[in-house]
Amino acid sequence: MKVLIATDKPFAKVAVDGIRKEVEAAGFELALLEKYTEKQQLLDAVVDADAIIIRSDIIDAEVIAAAKQLKIVVRAGAGYDNVDLDAATAAGVCVMNTPGQNANAVAELVMGLLIFTVRNFYNGTSGTELKGKKLGIHAYGNVGRNVARIAKGFGMELFAFDAYCRAEDIKADGVQPLCSVEELYATCDIVSVHIPATAETKQSINAALLGKMPKGGVVVNTARKEVIHEAELVEFMTANPTFKYVTDIVPGNDAEMKEKFADRYFTTPKKMGAQTSEANINAGIAAAKQIADFIKNGNDCFKVNR
Ligand code: 3PG
Repeated sequence: MKVLIATDKPFAKVAVDGIRKEVEAAGFELALLEKYTEKQQLLDAVVDADAIIIRSDIIDAEVIAAAKQLKIVVRAGAGYDNVDLDAATAAGVCVMNTPGQNANAVAELVMGLLIFTVRNFYNGTSGTELKGKKLGIHAYGNVGRNVARIAKGFGMELFAFDAYCRAEDIKADGVQPLCSVEELYATCDIVSVHIPATAETKQSINAALLGKMPKGGVVVNTARKEVIHEAELVEFMTANPTFKYVTDIVPGNDAEMKEKFADRYFTTPKKMGAQTSEANINAGIAAAKQIADFIKNGNDCFKVNR
């Protein structure tokens, strides 16, 4: 039984060592494909894989077709929009994620980006503080909850909107649940985005929504670039010279954003949210354990393609 780690953006070595231990303890063999530059390398590597552990790597119908022995793909992380679920289901391949395992890492990055932003990208000028500011958490899942926990320590006033989360559960964390996404943006000085990229959410953060924010608003996006309406973001930022956008996912129009809004737009060069040893260990080892449990016992607890 062969388990392939296929990661364009590699895990920390300590995490790969931990995954190897789990895989070998289960009596399986581990193969490693890291930092690949061509899709063909992935297509070649999957040929004899029974299981694949990935990050944001694209598993499309072509990859699934090439992986003739494939039984399971585990996305070591939260979002699985990089996997063609229909193609996997049609081929009888189970797809899982590892929810929550990298959530603290992403939440810590949110706070880092926010301090960097309100201190004017550390350019030496006088900035503002997070204490007392209204923080809107756009989707109250694993990352959103961790953001709330940490932001409380900064003395921020917390609000959240999540159509799939009970208001009582949000309230129980000392966070004020709001009734609509519009209300969230209208209420908060800063909004932290944690929605997945789905047909419903893609391009949903548009000029009309951003226009509800108070003057000097900040949006921090550590979720997916697809949820932002990029053309309308440019229009909005042009018309609203105090608004700042910071993100962990390079937008499609990065060059234009850099040129037009150098002092109020920032992106990390490559998604950094889950790039910690701890998150890699948590998500990678969870993935290895889920694979062993699925192959040996048929446990499909974290299956996302029903
Ligand atoms: C996730 O969905 O878990 C995060 O976006 C992390 O993605 P990454 O593993 O590619 O860093």
